[in-house]
Amino acid sequence: MTSPFPATPDFSGHNTPSRIECDIFDLVVEGTLPTEFEGSWYRSVPDPQYPPLMGDDTYLSGDGMVSLFRFEKGHVDFKMRYVQTERWKNERAARRSLHGLYRNPYTDDPSARGKGRGAANTTPIVHAGRLFALKEDSRAWELDPVTLATVGEWSYGGRLRTPTMTAHPRIDPDTGEMYFFGYEAGGLASREVAFCVADKNGELIREDWFEVPFCALMHDFAVTKEHVIFPLFPITASLERMQAGGPHWAWDGSRETLMGVMPRAGRVDQIRWFRGPTCSAFHFFNAFSEGNKVYADFSLSDVPAFQFIREAGGLQIRPDQLKGNIVRWTFDLGKPGDGIESQVLGPSGDLPRLADKDAMRPYDIAYYCRYEPTAGPPILSGPVGAGFNAISRLEVNTGRLTTVAPGPTSTLQEPIHVPSAQPGHEGYLAFVVDRHDENLAEVHVVEAGHLEKGPIARIKLPMRLRSGVHGNWVPAAAAAGSPR
Ligand SMILES: [Fe+2]
Repeated sequence: MTSPFPATPDFSGHNTPSRIECDIFDLVVEGTLPTEFEGSWYRSVPDPQYPPLMGDDTYLSGDGMVSLFRFEKGHVDFKMRYVQTERWKNERAARRSLHGLYRNPYTDDPSARGKGRGAANTTPIVHAGRLFALKEDSRAWELDPVTLATVGEWSYGGRLRTPTMTAHPRIDPDTGEMYFFGYEAGGLASREVAFCVADKNGELIREDWFEVPFCALMHDFAVTKEHVIFPLFPITASLERMQAGGPHWAWDGSRETLMGVMPRAGRVDQIRWFRGPTCSAFHFFNAFSEGNKVYADFSLSDVPAFQFIREAGGLQIRPDQLKGNIVRWTFDLGKPGDGIESQVLGPSGDLPRLADKDAMRPYDIAYYCRYEPTAGPPILSGPVGAGFNAISRLEVNTGRLTTVAPGPTSTLQEPIHVPSAQPGHEGYLAFVVDRHDENLAEVHVVEAGHLEKGPIARIKLPMRLRSGVHGNWVPAAAAAGSPR
């Protein structure tokens, strides 16, 4: 490598690219892992191979790295591999970055024009026995679930028409169907969205295209047993801006939020649009339908968490000035008009997790990451400034909150939930703890119903782990095999 990574927050300190592909057999475990903690935990991490072409870039551009914690009989084995996308292969061959600004192909090196630039760096998910690495700007990339070797881009046997696929598909815990969508399906800054369903066997059974009122950064969506909710928060794209070498996305504080509600078994021309205040959100906790009412719970902030998106829209504001909450928006399909009722459920935070069984139906308990000032000072970690330093369990129907925080020199990453077979047991959470005092990572395992007791097991790594985006747990019974 002939040039260094930039000394900017997205590429220095804890955010220094790791670029380590490795296997570590039998990590050190302090404490005792529950005997029912058996399975595979996949995490996706943006981890750039090379310094940015344009001198600086966002954390979100990094090449997809997938890590695997494999839990077996109280032991934990670890594996980490790059997703070998077209972009990764081309840059590997050139020994340098070929792609310019985040999701702006007009700024790419001429040798990379027209080449795939998806980084597959956001979410690993297993459906119908296949492991996919997802990022919303391309189709899924299939990986071997045991070795993490890249198989190739996934197109449902050539039947999928949309060139993009969300990194937040939703799997119905009862039917095994995977619901997903692709935005900018008609090309950069287009208003076309593809709504898709794959059945429990992994067959594409539905792909319906429609136009949204404006092209928005549709990072997530929500699905209930009876409805689908498409959110348009006002982060917008402009083809002219991209062609002029500018950013793909910009915050547009002059627009309100639109939410499209569609009958899940209905048609895309039945989408009914509701109007909400100007605000930003990236992740839904859950959603459910009761009669004519549809409820969507999500992490709202007054402006986007990402500085590069705020600044592209001309908004200069410090990260600690953002305001937000966990909210429930209610859409009443029995009433005329396009109004939304809003209710606060809990204090601000993000990276929510549920027990899988609770998805799409009325529920009581969610877990999510927060920055808790009493737990320690802000520590730079991850893509938006100060990392989260606490995980809370929120009873959404009462507002009751319990919290675990690993200490004033630590931050932490998105938890997974591992269910328990014991009657009345709420299961477990596991999450990566960034030990900034030692520049090392640990995994903490806690009882989901008793966060206040602290970890029952600590798994020690001999290195730090760059902040992941999302992860998923696959119980041993559903896994494809054991990595050996
Ligand atoms: Fe996400």
